[in-house]
Amino acid sequence: MQSYNTILLENKEGILIIKINRPDKLNALSQEVVDELSSAIKLMYGDEQVNGVIITGSGNKSFVAGADILQFASLSKATARDLAKKGQDLMFLIENSPKPVIACVNGFALGGGCELAMACHFRIASENAVFGQPEVNIGVMTGYGGSQRLTHLVGKGIAMEWMLSAIKIDAQTALRYGLVNYVVPQNELLDKGLSILNKIKTNAPLAVAGSIKAVNATHNNDLNGYELEIDEFAKLFNTKDVLEGVQAFAEKRKPQFKGK
Ligand code: COA
Repeated sequence: MQSYNTILLENKEGILIIKINRPDKLNALSQEVVDELSSAIKLMYGDEQVNGVIITGSGNKSFVAGADILQFASLSKATARDLAKKGQDLMFLIENSPKPVIACVNGFALGGGCELAMACHFRIASENAVFGQPEVNIGVMTGYGGSQRLTHLVGKGIAMEWMLSAIKIDAQTALRYGLVNYVVPQNELLDKGLSILNKIKTNAPLAVAGSIKAVNATHNNDLNGYELEIDEFAKLFNTKDVLEGVQAFAEKRKPQFKGK
């Protein structure tokens, strides 16, 4: 497996755990972290040994405390545009992954950290997790897609309030508004993520990929999600897995899917 400077990778029985590893900077997203995450996610797409991904942060204090604020000092309008584009490309790469990617949020998920968590297919939080888009505090705003994904997840009024007031959102509040699916004690966080992904792993990979694509289409104005669903549904009938699934049901046994 490829090794990186700012992220750690571990494959646990087909689940790739990606840990952002700058604990002294609360795992802030430097350009190097963005580049390395992009590389790891691209490689994961074609890695047959990986069925699902967990993104988390090193240590027990922070998932990702934002984009690296110090880099903002030297940005011009043009370089700021490049930075935001690169960040958004990473978020789309995660969101459009054909394999499930979940965020195990182990502490601060602020700014770019909240945006990273929201690009994942869903989120689990530890009890100490703190979410927020506090960019306006320091004179900037979301740039990695946060204004769009937060609004999709919690609705316009709440997203407006949270972004404009730059407030920090605790884990239980995040749960109440649907920003996270579960809140668990910190020492159970990874096990919760692994158990969900291990369950998903038993399902037909191409049907899982089609479902991800269809759900993502609800938030893409360029796509008709209903038509896309018909296409994805129909495509599955070209696969051996659909026969296996139906046959296993009839024979009252567990299906053995091959992703073909
Ligand atoms: N970018 C760069 N460095 C960051 C960072 C970020 N987004 N967030 C934290 N750090 C660094 C701090 O500068 C500090 O580094 P130092 O020890 O070299 O001085 C280190 O991480 C620890 O942070 P510190 O602020 O001392 O921890 P804390 O527990 O007192 O506070 C936070 C934690 C998250 C409340 C605080 O770090 C913070 O507000 N961070 C910025 C959050 C933010 O606005 N993110 C959006 C950016 S657009």
